[in-house]
Amino acid sequence: MLKVSLFVILAALLPLALAAPAQSEEMVLTPGGLRPKSSVIQIPEGGSINLTDTEVHLLDASKRVIHVSPRSDAKVRASPVTNATVPEQSGWISFAYWRRINFPIQNFFTTWVVPPTPATNHGQTIFLFNGLEPDTGDSILQPVLQWGPSVGGGGPFWQFATWYVAGATSFFTPLLDVSVGQSLQGIIQFTRKNADGTFNYVSEFAGSSGVALSNSPELTWAYETLEAYSVTTASDYPTGCTPFFGISISTVDGATAPVSWGITNDDFDGVHTYINVNGGSNGQVTTCYPL
Ligand SMILES: *[C@@H]1O[C@H](CO)[C@@H](O)[C@H](O)[C@H]1NC(C)=O
Ligand SMILES: *[C@@H]1O[C@H](CO)[C@@H](O)[C@H](O)[C@H]1NC(C)=O
Repeated sequence: MLKVSLFVILAALLPLALAAPAQSEEMVLTPGGLRPKSSVIQIPEGGSINLTDTEVHLLDASKRVIHVSPRSDAKVRASPVTNATVPEQSGWISFAYWRRINFPIQNFFTTWVVPPTPATNHGQTIFLFNGLEPDTGDSILQPVLQWGPSVGGGGPFWQFATWYVAGATSFFTPLLDVSVGQSLQGIIQFTRKNADGTFNYVSEFAGSSGVALSNSPELTWAYETLEAYSVTTASDYPTGCTPFFGISISTVDGATAPVSWGITNDDFDGVHTYINVNGGSNGQVTTCYPL
């Protein structure tokens, strides 16, 4: 009798227990916008990500699968700013984009200098990165500089990490401190085409450990991006401009890519990206903050 009542009580509570976390789950900030905390996973040292047809696997340094999540075709680009009549929106504020033309991208290098500390702190987060996405837009591989909080930690100081943000799950390497004025080089490299037509990549900041991605769709779109969240006033941004320079994009045939950047801006906030030098060798685009 006791057994039966316990079972009945447990059976009655189970759906609640299952439903509750989903409804009340803490949302955390990633370079793909706000995500449920349980779907944002730190990559261990030497870790890698492997895609199967239906799943995303996180592997540790010894290639043991330590996390599995479903693949999703949800778009990862965090609401690009298209409504220039509303100030201080969140998402991709200003960015340069280019899709490869003839051959897949082999290497994508970009250097930028850690900007000045924003004059005011309203809990905002600033992300600066170069990144590659597949045509589906459902994932992005990106070495990211950030100021302000994200799920990886952070606060009113600059830190960097490599991220793989996918439709359902996001992965990041531990955040490392970096000083104002320091130079960073973000690197994304194709390493192999697999028999099934999928592609392998690695991404990191030069001199630090990043992440390897296996069995990905080809990453075709290149970006240089300023992304921001919870900016309330112009002084929540750094001052001056951030040149993304030394941009080098080569293709798998060994050629320099014929890069011609397109630009999206949130001019209403006074944030603007300029094209300085097109082309896949020593290219430059510059993102300027509000005056
Ligand atoms: C990645 O997943 C594919 C498909 O399941 C599998 O064939 C391959 O061995 C895996 N690679 C690694 C490094 O685990
Ligand atoms: C921009 O946002 C405003 C305020 O939310 C809205 O009224 C307007 O329709 C939006 N415009 C576009 C083009 O989305």
